[in-house]
Amino acid sequence: QNESTVTITVLGASGDLAKKKIFPALFALYYEDCLPKHFTIFGFARTKMTHAELRTMISKTLTCRIDKRENCDKKMDKFLDRCFYHSGQYDSQEDFAELNRKMREHEGGRVSNRLFYLSIPPNIFTEAVRCASQSASSVNGWTRVIVEKPFGRDSESSAALTKTLKQYLLEDQIFRIDHYLGKELVENLSIMRFSNLIFEPLWSRQYIRNVQLIFSEDFGTEGRGGYFDNYGIIRDIMQNHLLQILALFAMETPVSLDAEDIRNEKVKVLRSMRPLSLEDVVIGQYKSHTKGRTTYPGYTDDTTVPKDSLTPTFAAAALFIDNARWDGVPFLMKAGKALHNKIAEIRVQFRHVPGNLYNRNFGTDLDRATNELVIRVQPDEAIYLKINNKIPGLGMRLDRSYLNLHYAARYSKEIPDAYERLLLDAIEGERRLFIRSDELNAAWSLFTPVLKELEKKKIIPEYYPYGSRGPVGAHYLAARYNVRWGDIG
Ligand code: BG6
Repeated sequence: QNESTVTITVLGASGDLAKKKIFPALFALYYEDCLPKHFTIFGFARTKMTHAELRTMISKTLTCRIDKRENCDKKMDKFLDRCFYHSGQYDSQEDFAELNRKMREHEGGRVSNRLFYLSIPPNIFTEAVRCASQSASSVNGWTRVIVEKPFGRDSESSAALTKTLKQYLLEDQIFRIDHYLGKELVENLSIMRFSNLIFEPLWSRQYIRNVQLIFSEDFGTEGRGGYFDNYGIIRDIMQNHLLQILALFAMETPVSLDAEDIRNEKVKVLRSMRPLSLEDVVIGQYKSHTKGRTTYPGYTDDTTVPKDSLTPTFAAAALFIDNARWDGVPFLMKAGKALHNKIAEIRVQFRHVPGNLYNRNFGTDLDRATNELVIRVQPDEAIYLKINNKIPGLGMRLDRSYLNLHYAARYSKEIPDAYERLLLDAIEGERRLFIRSDELNAAWSLFTPVLKELEKKKIIPEYYPYGSRGPVGAHYLAARYNVRWGDIG
C-alpha cells in the first residue's frame, strides 16, 4: 500500500523524438533494472491508436543495445506490456481527466509520482501543462514535467514561457532538458577538471590561448525544415548545447556537487560573458551540391522552407568571458548542418612554451607546436592531448604525438544514450543536469541582441555547398583572434 509508483506520460508519443529517443531510453533503463518496481508508461497524442498499435510502433525502435542476451526479447515484451496509449487533445481538461482515471487504475492506491515529458511543439506547451497540472497531477506524490527546447525564441518569449509555466508549476517541478548535458563526455568534464591535479591549474588565461566548441553534422534539416526555419542554428545548437558545455568548461569550482551549487556556478560564468556582437558572428546556409551521381539538396530546396529564407544553418562566433580567469581568451563556437563530417568536440589550445629551446625544430609554424587538448564528445568518444615528442632515433627530429584516452579501447561497456541518464535523473529528482530558469535567462541575454540584429538587418548568410567544410568566413573570424580552427588540421 505504501509503495510508490511512477507513471511516465510521453506527450507527443507519435513524434520522432519519442520514437527515436524517449521510448528506447526508457526501455534501456528498464533493461538495466533502473526503473522503479511499479511503473507505467503512457503515450499521449492526438492520433487515434490502440495500445497494441503504440506497442508495435515503439517496438520497432527499441534495441537490445546493451548486449544480445537471449532474454532481451522477453524483457522487451514485458516492457511493452507496461506501455499504454491515450489519445487526446493537448488543451482538453476532459482528456487529461480521463488519463488521470486510467493512471489511478494502474497505481492501485499506491503513492503516485507522475512524470510528464513534453515532446510537443512549443505553441502547445502551456495548454498541455495547464491541463496536465490541473487534471492529472499527483495528489500524494510528486509531479514533474520535462520540457524540451525551444524554450522561446529570445529573452522576451523565453521569459513569457517561464512565467506561464510557473502559473501551474513550481520551478523545481520543471526539468528543462538539454540532452548534451546527458552525454558521457560532457558529464565527465567536471571530473576531468576537478579530480585531476594536472588540468585545473592550467585552466585559465595564463595557459589557455583559446577554446573551441565545434558541432557539425553531415546531413541537412531533412524533414525538420518547418521547425528549423523558425529557429536557425544559433538557437538550435549554440544558445543551448554549446553554451552549456562552455559553462561547465569555464565555471569556477562549485561549493559541492549539489545541483544548486553547480547551477549557481554556471549562472555566474554565463553572466560574466559579453553579449555576442554582430561583428563576432559569421552565418552560412547550405546550398545544393552534386557529387558524382548524387545531388544533395540545398536548405531552401526543403519544401517546408520558404525559398527566400535567410535562416542560418551554419554559424561561427567568438565569445568572451569578462572575469579574472578568462579575460581576453576567445571562446570560439562553430555549428553547422550539411557539412563534411559529424562531430562534436571541445578543443583547448594552450599557449606557446616561453623561450622554447626547440622552437627552431618547428620552423616558422610555432602554433603547431603548442599543446592541444581535445575532448571528442561524439562520435567515438575520446580525450586526447597533443604533445611534442622526439622521434626515436639518432638526430633530433620532433613530432606531434598523442596521449590518448580512447573510450572504445579503454571501456568495454557501451555508453548510455544521453536521454537515459536524463530520464533517470528526472525520475530520481536529480536536477544537476537540467537548466534552471536563471541559467536560461542568462543564456538568452547573450544571444538575443545579435539574433534580433541578424533578422532586422536581413543579413545574408554565406552560402556553402552541402558536404563542404562550411563558409570561409569562419576562418577569417578565427584569424581575427589569432586562432586556427583545430579541426581543420
Ligand atoms: C537537437 C537539435 O537538439 O540536437 C538537432 O535540435 C540536432 O538539430 C540534434 O540534430 C543533435 O543531437 P545529437 O545528440 O544527435 O548530436
